Amino acid sequence: MKIIMLGAPGAGKGTQAKKIAEKYSVPHISTGDIFRSNIKNGTELGMKAKAFMDQGLLVPDELTCDLVVDRIGQDDCKNGYILDGFPRTIPQAEALNTALKSMGTSIDYAIDVEVQDSHIVNRMSGRRACTGCGATYHVKYNAPKAENICDACGEALVLRDDDKPETVQKRLTVYHDQTQPLIDYYKKAGVLRTVDGTLDMEDVFSAIIAILGE
Ligand code: AP5
Ligand code: MG
Repeated sequence: MKIIMLGAPGAGKGTQAKKIAEKYSVPHISTGDIFRSNIKNGTELGMKAKAFMDQGLLVPDELTCDLVVDRIGQDDCKNGYILDGFPRTIPQAEALNTALKSMGTSIDYAIDVEVQDSHIVNRMSGRRACTGCGATYHVKYNAPKAENICDACGEALVLRDDDKPETVQKRLTVYHDQTQPLIDYYKKAGVLRTVDGTLDMEDVFSAIIAILGE
């Protein structure tokens, strides 16, 4: 099962991707998480990516495509995977397509988690991310048991650097310019499915299971 999660920043791609990965036992591959872990470890890739991420801009395709193509070629991806946050541009989608063709395979579903911009800024200001394991919470919709402490690993929860309202606005503009065209791209490929991302998290997940099957 090879799945792409599409949707605006804060639509709930990561939230749903984690649930899908658990239910169907396939790896969750988030380019945002990969970049954040590189930033935390002070790698060269992390330093390069941070300069773009902090401004709400996309990391250049040349830093992103090879990384993902290499990751999906690894052993644990044999039975499928969920790509969360990749592709994000038409050239990234083309690069993925070329790589999959050479492996003799293709994407099964591109799931668009649809949420209007008006919901997004509110959601992002309430998001808290774990500095240890990357788990995501929301102060109102998915609160941790103890304030600002991760349920899973006990590390501190923080507001992501790029979740400040002005950066979120920039990310939304970038999304509409560069990522939204992928909806048409995957519609033409016949694999697009859309779910209403404004529902409760569990209801969004049920809608996704209805698409993917039990
Ligand atoms: P990335 O980490 O991918 O960020 P994003 O796409 O902006 O999306 P988010 O992770 O912010 O949101 P999400 O849709 O995962 O929502 P979540 O589930 O957390 O990328 C960050 C940056 O890295 C980019 O800006 C770019 O610079 C760079 N980058 C990454 N990939 C790249 C690529 N391929 N090419 C170039 N650059 C790249 O949910 C959000 C909040 O809402 C949470 O608090 C959650 O608890 C809550 N929530 C979720 N669902 C619901 C619900 N149904 N109801 C109520 N609350 C909900
Ligand atoms: Mg995410």
